[in-house]
Amino acid sequence: MQRLSPALLQDNVPFDLIALIKTILAATKEISFRVSQAHLGDLMGSTLDENIQGEVQKKLDVVANELFKDILLESGFVKAISSEEEDTSVAGDKNGKYIVSFDPLDGSSNIDINSLIGTIFSIHKAPENMAADDPDMFKQAGNHQVCAGYVLYGPSTMLVMTTGSGTHFYVLDRTHGGYLLVERNIQIPADTQEFAVNMSNQRFWQPEMQSYINDLLLGDTGPRDKNFNMRWIAAMVGDVHRVLCRGGIFTYPSDSRNPEKPYKLRLMYEANPMAFLIEQAGGLCVTSKERIMDIEPTSIHQRVEVILGSKNEVEKCLSYYK
Ligand code: AHG
Ligand code: MN
Ligand code: MN
Repeated sequence: MQRLSPALLQDNVPFDLIALIKTILAATKEISFRVSQAHLGDLMGSTLDENIQGEVQKKLDVVANELFKDILLESGFVKAISSEEEDTSVAGDKNGKYIVSFDPLDGSSNIDINSLIGTIFSIHKAPENMAADDPDMFKQAGNHQVCAGYVLYGPSTMLVMTTGSGTHFYVLDRTHGGYLLVERNIQIPADTQEFAVNMSNQRFWQPEMQSYINDLLLGDTGPRDKNFNMRWIAAMVGDVHRVLCRGGIFTYPSDSRNPEKPYKLRLMYEANPMAFLIEQAGGLCVTSKERIMDIEPTSIHQRVEVILGSKNEVEKCLSYYK
């Protein structure tokens, strides 16, 4: 099995980006260790604080964020970072060539039940003519990502990453402490019989999504003429990973519960990096109106509707909106 650096060199990834990726991965190895020790180290449960998005922060959200932030800012490779757990962007080295957006721990509600969680990251080039403390540097569409990935803290610690030459799987080999390439060029099957959505929100969805999911539920007695299975891990990293492994459609559709917050997932550090990984594996990642990676961001924590996965199934879902 190939080690990380030779695998990235084979894909013509520049040296400075490889160095940044290795810095990010150093942080994930530390987070992986802390996650495995959480119960022993009094890291279960919540803090008394909320993040800027009004969500209660888990102790591990805060620990993972501090680790990621400190390692990245000390590296000298980044001009700024932005995180789910930071109010705004944080300046790094003014000569840093890259900016990194991240979700330090995705699937926080799984922490206390010892279930699947992960870290998601997205890398863009830093604009040269902007100051390191200018959050507008992050207003770049997903199309311009130079690297995106996530690390799953599951039965094995697994890295899924793309630099624009396919989506590849790596596993953390604890015997030597590095990530090894286990599968190159993941391809998502175009057709599927599996969907992932939080069904408890059904009554709040738009009529188009209600009718699409209703037809899946009707199985071989309805217009789809085949039965569908359902899965929901409550961590986007886990659900997207399953889609990459065996196909499927995942959605967090817009809903009408709170008119000021019609979407749940965040564009910069959830939807965009997953879109890059999914498209590089032959899948689609869209809203009901447009391709996710075409969206010009207006703010760091902006939220977006997400429909992603097997190409033909995502197109089928979109046909309900026409
Ligand atoms: P985070 O833990 O970073 O706030 O993200 C959680 C997100 C996403 O990972 C997952 O798909 C979704 O929230 C789960 O939502 P429900 O609570 O509706 O299941
Ligand atoms: Mn998340
Ligand atoms: Mn998170």
